[in-house]
Amino acid sequence: VTIAFSVVLTPVTSSDLYAQGTSVTTDWTREAASQIRLDGSNTAPKIDKDKLEEITSEFIIWDTWPLQDKNGHPAVVNGYKIIFALSVPKGTIPGKRHDSAEIRYFYSNDGKSWRPGGLVFEDGKALGSRQWAGSFVIDKNGRVHMFYTATGRKGEERLSYGQKLATVTADILTNKSVAFANWSNHKVILEADGTYYQTEEQAGYGEFSYAFRDPSYFLDPKTGEEYLLFSANSSGTLEERACRPEHAGTAEFMRTMPSEAKFYNGSIGIAKAVNDDLTEFEALPPLLEANCVNEELERPNVVVKGNQYYLFTKTHSNKFAEGIDAPEGLYGFVSESFTTEYKPLNGTGLVIANPDDNPYQSYSWMVMSNGTVISYVDYVDVDGKDIQEIGEQSTEYQIEHFGGMLAPSIKLSITGDRTSLLGEKKQGVFK
Ligand code: FRU
Repeated sequence: VTIAFSVVLTPVTSSDLYAQGTSVTTDWTREAASQIRLDGSNTAPKIDKDKLEEITSEFIIWDTWPLQDKNGHPAVVNGYKIIFALSVPKGTIPGKRHDSAEIRYFYSNDGKSWRPGGLVFEDGKALGSRQWAGSFVIDKNGRVHMFYTATGRKGEERLSYGQKLATVTADILTNKSVAFANWSNHKVILEADGTYYQTEEQAGYGEFSYAFRDPSYFLDPKTGEEYLLFSANSSGTLEERACRPEHAGTAEFMRTMPSEAKFYNGSIGIAKAVNDDLTEFEALPPLLEANCVNEELERPNVVVKGNQYYLFTKTHSNKFAEGIDAPEGLYGFVSESFTTEYKPLNGTGLVIANPDDNPYQSYSWMVMSNGTVISYVDYVDVDGKDIQEIGEQSTEYQIEHFGGMLAPSIKLSITGDRTSLLGEKKQGVFK
């Protein structure tokens, strides 16, 4: 995808480019991803779960996000910081937690010790049969806009996996504790359209990877436009897709393209807000696709530093296509334009890798605007088992080896198109 920037004088948006018939989507190529290597600049310190503390003894938690202001800074509301996390009661088989996830919140006066606030949404009101990750922002009037994934159908008897982006708003009440009140109605804001983003039907209802989830709010400081980023897959059925030179990166990588690579179609989608209430969004072409490289790019978010946009996502080692050996990790891309021309950070995209001797220790990293990265403890000390084998172990094994709590935060240095790890911080620290 080459765009003749020399002739473009005014800032172009992806809708303009799309109208001109120009592709704006960046490809994460096999060439870039094939060069991924673990080293001291990207490998996280080994986690010792016994030294960690839980913020709740009743629930396991995983994907976690703080309440943010519209510029992406963790918000402080009357002295309180608030975080939200996917949760299930302790005792749930960790591998089955996605089937009954609910969003809980925790609040803190000091940003270190967290008190449980309970479930965020009013009983029975949230959309979907369960709720997956999202992002919650507070506007200047104190109204909280909550964007989340509604998965499955409300009240369904047989679990289904359809995913929709949903929203609801509420006020925050703070006194000796933190609570939410004056709720709006929950509303679906976006479903996969089959043109930019693969529908569940195109994906063969669970036969192949399908994502349309993890909305993440982003205000572009250069234009004032508001967006949601989300995790998706490139559109079309498997028969309609093909691996092309732009997915390979070089003629050599095209020549050696494995035939199964076309199963891999992870993408990062965007939708632009078309009203000030943030209840109507228009889907735009994806920011990035990993066609023939990776099938699942989760929880994307963007951080702005200087003149650059940093796009982050996370993925599992087993989501990479054949021929690419890459770790469970945080991956990232950088561009001077929000909608196009991203380059993989560090030349490959790898930003944080789990160490080789604890390859599933942490997941779902989220980069804050100051470079601090939070995540949760996934499976630890699994003695060389891969994720498939872990899933086949007994309930007791899974419970014993699953963290289900906040991981130590990591401080990231970000300069130009390079990143490196500066060290570990306490669990749940955003500073
Ligand atoms: C990442 C993730 C998200 C999803 C959630 C479901 O850990 O897979 O993409 O929203 O977990 O539990």
